Amino acid sequence: MVNNHTIILGIESSCDDTSASVIKNDTVLSNVIAGQAVHAKYGGVVPELASRAHQQNIIPVVDAAIKEAGISAVDIDAIAFTKGPGLMGSLVVGTSFAKAFALAKKIPLIDVNHMHGHVLAHFIEEEGKSKPKFPFLCLTVSGGHTQIVLVKDYLDMEVIGSTIDDAAGEAFDKTAKLLGLPYPGGPLVDKYAKLGDENRFEFAKPNMPGYNYSFSGLKTSIMYFLQKEEQKQAGFMQTEINDICASVQKSILDILFVKLIQASKDLNIQQIAIAGGVSANSGLRKKLGEIAAQNHWEIYIPKMEFCTDNAAMIAITGYFMYQKKLFVDQTISADARLKF
Ligand code: KG4
Ligand code: ZN
Repeated sequence: MVNNHTIILGIESSCDDTSASVIKNDTVLSNVIAGQAVHAKYGGVVPELASRAHQQNIIPVVDAAIKEAGISAVDIDAIAFTKGPGLMGSLVVGTSFAKAFALAKKIPLIDVNHMHGHVLAHFIEEEGKSKPKFPFLCLTVSGGHTQIVLVKDYLDMEVIGSTIDDAAGEAFDKTAKLLGLPYPGGPLVDKYAKLGDENRFEFAKPNMPGYNYSFSGLKTSIMYFLQKEEQKQAGFMQTEINDICASVQKSILDILFVKLIQASKDLNIQQIAIAGGVSANSGLRKKLGEIAAQNHWEIYIPKMEFCTDNAAMIAITGYFMYQKKLFVDQTISADARLKF
């Protein structure tokens, strides 16, 4: 019998979300994500707690993904998993599961780079949405990464700029922490920023070569500013939270977009894609729309569920790798510092 479709099970466990997804070619049949509330009170992800939660979640999450997809395990043609980069203890859970599953079902095993996954999430079929055309630029902005990727083909891409210290999401989260807000603080900064004046305060801007980023100076500048203002006027942070969040958000977005605009001009590429959790930011989406209109960009933003960490992006990457028979054997292991 001719099999004209490929069913891939994707597994993602690089940070604090355990996710499993079943896709049929480029169409998502299920994408189950179990978050981990356990980290909120610590102000960040606690690696040891994350790996323990992955161990508890992985089997129920995979089970739910298969059931929701309306298939049975024997229908799966290959299993794709996140090899890295990420937290070692977390990655090991997904990697071990995928190896065992491939062995038991006698199906190919595909090791996916998490960052390729964020980029290729743009090729997941979404009704009414077009897909980026090659070559395009993808700004991946998450809690762990900030990079501009030049994407020449599905499996031919190169990082042309990245952060040398904190990621954009970390800049949001660390600011939120300074303001006494819980983790992850990015969505809360977004919420307060909507009510504030973004031109009220100004913070240090980095001067980085090429398309590279740095956010640690901004964080330090915010920290000293808040300490100074609190000394002058106790309760400053509470009363001015809207303007502080709006001004910080503007600084982060200005830093992000200056480099993206430069890269687009230098390379003469107007196909611009955004990926990663920070792309949920409403200010970013608004500014991106404005910049796109000025620069004749065509912009691509995946559905939120495919922007933040999810296994569908790992499965779609696996789908493209499956076509090239890029399989690995049982000697494969997770790599926390996997290179792009
Ligand atoms: O991609 P993601 O879910 O996980 C990582 O791979 O890191 O991104 C999470 C990051 C966190 O830093 C979170 O604060 C940030 O995305 N984030 C936001 C917003 N929603 C999520 N940052 C700013 N504004 C938002 N609305
Ligand atoms: Zn991610």
